[in-house]
Amino acid sequence: MCNFYASSAENSTLTDVEGNEYIDFAAGIAVLNTGHRHPRLVAAMEQQLKAFTHTAYQIVPYESYISLAEKINAAAPVEGELKTAFFSTGAEAVENAVKIARAYTGRPGIIAFGGGFHGRTYMTMALTGKVAPYKKGFGPFPGSVFHVPYPSELHNVTTADTLIAIERLFKADIDASQVAAIIFEPVQGEGGFNVAPPELIAAIRRLCDEHGIVMIADEVQSGFARTGKLFAMDHYQHQADLMTMAKSLAGGMPLSGVVGKAEIMDAPAPGGLGGTYAGNPMAVASAHAVLDIIKDEQLCQRADALGERLRVALRDCQEWCAELAEIRGLGSMIAAEFCDAQTGEPSAAAAQKIQQRALEQGLLLLTCGQYGNVIRFLYPLTIPDAQFDKALKIIASATKIQEA
Ligand SMILES: Cc1ncc(COP(=O)(O)O)c(C=O)c1O
Repeated sequence: MCNFYASSAENSTLTDVEGNEYIDFAAGIAVLNTGHRHPRLVAAMEQQLKAFTHTAYQIVPYESYISLAEKINAAAPVEGELKTAFFSTGAEAVENAVKIARAYTGRPGIIAFGGGFHGRTYMTMALTGKVAPYKKGFGPFPGSVFHVPYPSELHNVTTADTLIAIERLFKADIDASQVAAIIFEPVQGEGGFNVAPPELIAAIRRLCDEHGIVMIADEVQSGFARTGKLFAMDHYQHQADLMTMAKSLAGGMPLSGVVGKAEIMDAPAPGGLGGTYAGNPMAVASAHAVLDIIKDEQLCQRADALGERLRVALRDCQEWCAELAEIRGLGSMIAAEFCDAQTGEPSAAAAQKIQQRALEQGLLLLTCGQYGNVIRFLYPLTIPDAQFDKALKIIASATKIQEA
């Protein structure tokens, strides 16, 4: 947690109560792809505020919810007739995706991935593949959840290793016919921005087709232009059956959703899904604005362009920062992993030192990764060029840790 209190924010700048300014490369943990308080988002919310702020959608529906669901149905990379349901948090979206998959298949089992993060509720903690700090001391967790390794080139885990683990699982722990869903992040968020190799997505699709399993892509962190496409799954040839979304969907308002094949989405009985605040009208109004901004300001293209500039700058840093072991990601979902220059072991200390040095120069960065040794760069895609250049200079200076 930062040692200052926020007072105001505009696009990619955060100001604290003492008037200090920070370039915000944390973006409220991947929520602000369209920046703080985009004028179109503020206008949309003001308009909604004057109309009504809450009715509870399942009691008194409103058209903006339906039209937003239609836009998501049209945009999601899943073929056939689709339906979308809205909730409030990312964890809630994941919980509901699991409920839908279980209702559809009538099966209990869920396969998830090591290093994956899906939230802080009990089911999503069970799905999360990192013990400390997310699960430590909170057990027992819901059962019938199984983890397999997620591929990582740097840590020598291949898609073949993942598939062997799933085959073993089917022999040792649960029959494939009892598995309701395989849930994965196309680009792992908290896990360190590991990008799923296309062969992993293809293999999950094949397994799901073979055994009647629902394929769930958790796009809570990777969605809404971050990777250079509206959804990270747009990068792949194979499609999921259900997708979860939240964070940048509503640019700072709590809104999440599940989109997927209508036949699967329709499985729960009426009243089985929902929530008092699910699809809140203020958040829905922001999400409409977010989708318009992404389209009109061509934020997918901008994510690619900014991501490329960042990659080039990080490669330069490798000249003086021997700890910078790998630069990876998709579009603007870019991370840098730090390892000890001598031993090659993950170095959380190097990542934290760089994060601290950047903060001292006015740049807010976030760490992530299984070992806490990865820095992720989550700037608003609307960041002005001059400010982005300034941030790159701070990153260059902050990575000179040997000279410090
Ligand atoms: C991939 C993924 N799924 C789910 C969640 C949980 O979202 P929330 O914190 O809104 O519950 C997160 C949050 O970081 C996430 O990155």
